[in-house]
Amino acid sequence: MFLYFILCLLPCYLTMAVDGVTTNNIAKPGCQSQCGNITVTYPFGIGTDCFLDYSFELTCNNSYEPPKLFVGDLQIYNISDSELRIFTTISYRCYNQSGVVDYDHVGWTDLVGFYTFSVKNKFTVVGCDDYALISGTNGADFSSGCFGLCSQARDVPSGECSGIGCCQTSIPKGLSYYNATLGSVKNHSHVISFSECGYGFLVEEDSFVFGGVNDLSTDYLKFTNKIRSTMPVVLDWVIKSDGTCAAGVNACKGNSTCYDVVEGEGYRCICKSGYEGNPYLDAGCQDVDECNDHGTNPCYGICTNTLGSYTCTCPPQFSGNANVTNGCQPIAQKSSNNVSTTFIIVLVFGVLVMLSGLVGIYYGIRKRKLIRLREKFFEQNGGVLLKQKIKSQQSYEAMTLFSTEQLRKATGSYSQENIIGRGAYGVVYKGILSDKRLVAIKRSKLVDATQAEQFINEVLILTQVIHRNVVKLLGCCLEEEVPVLVYEFISNNTLFHHIHHRLGGMSWLTWENRLRVASEAASALGYLHSETTMPIIHRDVKSANILLDENYTTKISDFGASRLVPLDHEQVTTLIQGTLGYLDPEYFNSSQLTEKSDVYSFGVVLAELITGKKPIGADRTNEEKNLATYFTNAVKENRLFEIIEPRLLREATLNQLQAVGNLVKRCLSLVGRNRPTMKEVAVELEGLRKFTTHPWAQKQIGNESKSLVLEVEQSDLYSVPLINSITEWESYSGISNTSLEGNNPR
Ligand SMILES: *[C@@H]1O[C@H](CO)[C@@H](O)[C@H](O)[C@H]1NC(C)=O
Ligand SMILES: *[C@@H]1O[C@H](CO)[C@@H](O)[C@H](O)[C@H]1NC(C)=O
Ligand SMILES: *[C@@H]1O[C@H](CO)[C@@H](O)[C@H](O)[C@H]1NC(C)=O
Ligand SMILES: *[C@@H]1O[C@H](CO)[C@@H](O)[C@H](O)[C@H]1NC(C)=O
Ligand SMILES: *[C@@H]1O[C@H](CO)[C@@H](O)[C@H](O)[C@H]1NC(C)=O
Ligand SMILES: *[C@@H]1O[C@H](CO)[C@@H](O)[C@H](O)[C@H]1NC(C)=O
Ligand SMILES: *[C@@H]1O[C@H](CO)[C@@H](O)[C@H](O)[C@H]1NC(C)=O
Ligand SMILES: *[C@@H]1O[C@H](CO)[C@@H](O)[C@H](O)[C@H]1NC(C)=O
Repeated sequence: MFLYFILCLLPCYLTMAVDGVTTNNIAKPGCQSQCGNITVTYPFGIGTDCFLDYSFELTCNNSYEPPKLFVGDLQIYNISDSELRIFTTISYRCYNQSGVVDYDHVGWTDLVGFYTFSVKNKFTVVGCDDYALISGTNGADFSSGCFGLCSQARDVPSGECSGIGCCQTSIPKGLSYYNATLGSVKNHSHVISFSECGYGFLVEEDSFVFGGVNDLSTDYLKFTNKIRSTMPVVLDWVIKSDGTCAAGVNACKGNSTCYDVVEGEGYRCICKSGYEGNPYLDAGCQDVDECNDHGTNPCYGICTNTLGSYTCTCPPQFSGNANVTNGCQPIAQKSSNNVSTTFIIVLVFGVLVMLSGLVGIYYGIRKRKLIRLREKFFEQNGGVLLKQKIKSQQSYEAMTLFSTEQLRKATGSYSQENIIGRGAYGVVYKGILSDKRLVAIKRSKLVDATQAEQFINEVLILTQVIHRNVVKLLGCCLEEEVPVLVYEFISNNTLFHHIHHRLGGMSWLTWENRLRVASEAASALGYLHSETTMPIIHRDVKSANILLDENYTTKISDFGASRLVPLDHEQVTTLIQGTLGYLDPEYFNSSQLTEKSDVYSFGVVLAELITGKKPIGADRTNEEKNLATYFTNAVKENRLFEIIEPRLLREATLNQLQAVGNLVKRCLSLVGRNRPTMKEVAVELEGLRKFTTHPWAQKQIGNESKSLVLEVEQSDLYSVPLINSITEWESYSGISNTSLEGNNPR
């Protein structure tokens, strides 16, 4: 409705619409006004006291369907305010093949009372060898006739009564009786093949349509029925009872005038111009609201109804003829504070306000939907649980719950350009918060309950961990379809990238830095295993999950697979999860998860660090494809120095290398019990580092020392351009294509 109002507002202003068919010229109150579909209007009436004069008494015979209306014996076709149409009477005469008359009927109509035949009627003869005489009286005797002739069927035109097969002639005014007699010149002898009969009748000229040969050849009953039911004869009616208008009759009621009908010697009443109704009834005629009568009184300006009339003028500040379209033209005027402009401004303003209201409602509904959706996601993403935890534990206080808008703004609506990592689980975007802080935003790809759980898991673990070598979780956003985690941005790629994707010979990856990174990572893992309120097993320790920041400080990341181990449980049975090449074989075989699994994986990282080889090497033989096996075999066979990266042979002491080799071997022990704890590993690495504080004093390599110094100097820690391959950020995206995940294969 609201909309309709708006749509209608402008056009409706200039139009006056609506149909003006107001038929209140009806029957006398309390009388039947309808017979079948014919409306009976006063002075006509059905039943006692319903008509003005007995001449106007009608009968409605309800035994027909639809009911038939009669005046005397004559069936009425319809009634108007000066005319009455009745079914006509037809004379006919038919011949057989021998020229003998089969049927002969002389029709006649005698109008009694207040009726005469209208001059709108014509005496009509239909036939090909027929003449008809009309005899009648309008006081004086009247006689006339007409010939319908033709010789061949194809000569007969249909649609026009031209004398060929059809003939029409006028009748005099005031005729009240007629009969029609038919005759033939040749007894149809030459046209009998297509015309057996001739017809003569009175009919309203405008209603009559000659059907051509069809009318001539059809059966006489069908033809007469067709004429009677569709082509009436028109009668004029007058009121004779009280004499003429001049005689001072008072039969015409309010707002109507009386007029004499000369030919009938009577009068009729008519509503005054601009009024409508039944002038014979006491209510009289009523003013017509011409402004509501679009069809007959078009007005394209401001229409004002008056008694008996109306005015149609142009709106203020317009001039011209409002009776025609575009007839009104604006009057050029400079002053703007006039009524019309104000009106239009108000109008336009109103429309605008309404439109904006609608738009507002639309967006309001959309926003509400969005908010509801976000609340749903929040719940589904474990937001409620998390919120409770944040409230109940102080350690969660540092966590921020980001809003969807904040993160969209930070990442340019998660634009492609900001993607810095991609994995099977999700996508990592670089983002800039409004306070200019760089962040990494990890967004899960899938809408999956287990995914959400993993994210919440990571949130819960990371919020408990505060360690300089563990990537810091700043907060999360749970309003999105998938949970989104926000980390501090670690700018210098992964350890995996630095070890395996070096370009050129120069690198910050000196022996000293390798030991430092290893030591930092080990201490972080040791912290996770023993110093948190509940031990945390990382479960996916690998060089790709060790990040380096702008100062090459180590940051352990990706706790998506990590597990909290309740203190009273030594072991946890889990689904096997981890990355091929780093996976603890004992855990793989037993699915019993302990901290020692992380130690094994860390052993592989250490081996990676000192050999520069990938955990799964395509270049190695079958058995030694696995770096762990390759390494332990080499140590067993005293070939450690063959597989160590040549650079380290120069930078490190043999003792140091030997020590690290042994440490790796112990970490990679197939039996978890025989592996050192992470804490022990960290202490040992820290110890080894102490020796590197004065590495040159221990160098025994002589000749090479000069070039070595040069190299070390060039590979300045902070100015080495690193390969800008951000796709290596597997750690953020939780790369899974190398992950083993499944039930215990036992
Ligand atoms: C009256 O009804 C008949 C049949 O239902 C129809 O043919 C005829 O046209 C109607 N007449 C008027 C004036 O509505
Ligand atoms: C109605 O018409 C039927 C059949 O022509 C006739 O028998 C009957 O008398 C008529 N009824 C009236 C009330 O004229
Ligand atoms: C009566 O019938 C004639 C011919 O069909 C038609 O032109 C006229 O409009 C009708 N009048 C009324 C009041 O129905
Ligand atoms: C025509 O009608 C007359 C009189 O009824 C009859 O004698 C004659 O056989 C009829 N002719 C034909 C061809 O039917
Ligand atoms: C036809 O009308 C005329 C004049 O009223 C009359 O003289 C004549 O007898 C009528 N013919 C028939 C067959 O009714
Ligand atoms: C027509 O028929 C009438 C009587 O049936 C007869 O008197 C007349 O001669 C016939 N006319 C012709 C041309 O056959
Ligand atoms: C004439 O028409 C007006 C407007 O419809 C009406 O108020 C008034 O009563 C009418 N006059 C008579 C005498 O009916
Ligand atoms: C518009 O039509 C009305 C009613 O027919 C008439 O009175 C008026 O004079 C017309 N105005 C013009 C400018 O033709």
